[in-house]
This record gives sequence, C-alpha cells and structure tokens, in this order.
Amino acid sequence: MTLHIEGLAKRYGDATVFAEVSLTVAAGEFVAIVGESGVGKSTLLNCMAGLDTWDAGRIVHDATDIGALDAEACAIWRRSQVGFVFQAFHVLPHLDVAQNVGLPLMLLGRRDEARVARMLEVVGLAGLGARLPQQLSGGQLQRVAIARALVHRPALLLADEPTGNLDPTTAAKVMDVLLAQTREHGASLVLVTHSEAAAARADRVLHLTSQGIVRA
Ligand SMILES: Nc1ncnc2c1ncn2[C@@H]1O[C@H](COP(=O)(O)OP(=O)(O)O)[C@@H](O)[C@H]1O
Ligand SMILES: [Mg+2]
Repeated sequence: MTLHIEGLAKRYGDATVFAEVSLTVAAGEFVAIVGESGVGKSTLLNCMAGLDTWDAGRIVHDATDIGALDAEACAIWRRSQVGFVFQAFHVLPHLDVAQNVGLPLMLLGRRDEARVARMLEVVGLAGLGARLPQQLSGGQLQRVAIARALVHRPALLLADEPTGNLDPTTAAKVMDVLLAQTREHGASLVLVTHSEAAAARADRVLHLTSQGIVRA
C-alpha cells in the first residue's frame, strides 16, 4: 500500500503538536520516523490509522482519502488494511493470549486457529495461547501485540515503539519478525521511535521535529 501524507497539522487548543508533515511511504517500504519524546510520533501514527483527527492536510492510502471516510467506513477500512502495534499494547485483559492474537481475524469473520498458533510461534510465544495477559511479562505482552498486528496480513503495519520494553536481544528478534513478516507479504511498515538503534534497519529514516518532517 502506498501512503501519502500532505501538509498534515495537528493542534491541541493553542498548542501545535506538528505542522506541515508531508511524506510518502511506498508499497513494501520500511520507513522509521525518529523523534524526541513528546514531539508527536504517537499522534502522527494514530492519524495514519484514522484513529485520531487532524486540523489540516491529507492522508491518502492508495486511492482512499482517510479524512473523507466516516467513522464506520474508516473502522472497516482499518480492520482489513492496517495492523497497529500500540505503545501501551492495548491487550485485552479478559481474553487469553490466543484470543487476543486472533481478534483481528475474528472481526473480519476469518477465524483461523492455525494462523494464530503460527503467529505465536513466530514471536516466540508458542504454547502460551491459553495464558491470560496478567500472566505475561512486559516483553511477552509486547510480542502478543505484534502477533496480533500481523495475524491478518495487513497491507500497512504501524508500530509505535515496538521494541521499547524489550532487552536488546529480544528487541533484535522482534525486529527480525516484523521485517520478515512485512517483507513476506509486501506490506509497508512505518515504525516510530525515539531510538536511533530501533530505526537502524529501516529503508529510510525520517526525523520528526516541531518543524515537521526532516530527512535524515
Ligand atoms: N489528548 C491530548 N490533549 C492534549 N495534549 C495532548 C494529548 N495527547 C497528546 N498531547 C500532547 O501532544 C504532544 C505529542 O504527544 P505524543 O504524540 O504522545 O508524542 P510522542 O509519541 O512523540 O512522545 C505532547 O506534547 C503531548 O503532551
Ligand atoms: Mg509516543
């Protein structure tokens, strides 16, 4: 999927989070957006998924102008096209690990236990499907969130600090998984992070500042 952002601006009242963010992500490309804490990385990623609104500019995925969709159309579009790894995981506490990972498939009416088991194996959580989230460590929860984001083979994967809670060895493994899975399906990957190390493997690194996007 090609992602095109033009002149995006976001404000909270009088406070400008960012102004004039413009960027294009090609189909199959891995772009990392690096910026200091508070610069608006999570906000920008939420806008890309149509999970937040903006004040000026456009976001277009292939031929779909996200800002022109109503809430329901946007939710339907997001369900099928987007995988999102949230900074705070957003794993549902009352569902077990396998149910959490399988949620995107269930919402699409495409339950697939074998695919869920495969994704758990890919992220190193084989055999933990029946556990509840509270029985997992932070690093394991982050991997549940990653398996869930990938399970329905989205055309666009958006990842918010996906290795932020992991030790360097696990972080490298998780990046291997993200990259292998996106490459396998020709998906585009946008990763936001404050860590230059996490961005090192991207095809392209952009920097987000209060002035907008600056090329590395
Ligand atoms: N709901 C909100 N209301 C007001 N300000 C907000 C809200 N959400 C985020 N912000 C502010 O927007 C800025 C960008 O936040 P965020 O996107 O979380 O940054 P980052 O992910 O780069 O750390 C921060 O200054 C934050 O305080
Ligand atoms: Mg953030």
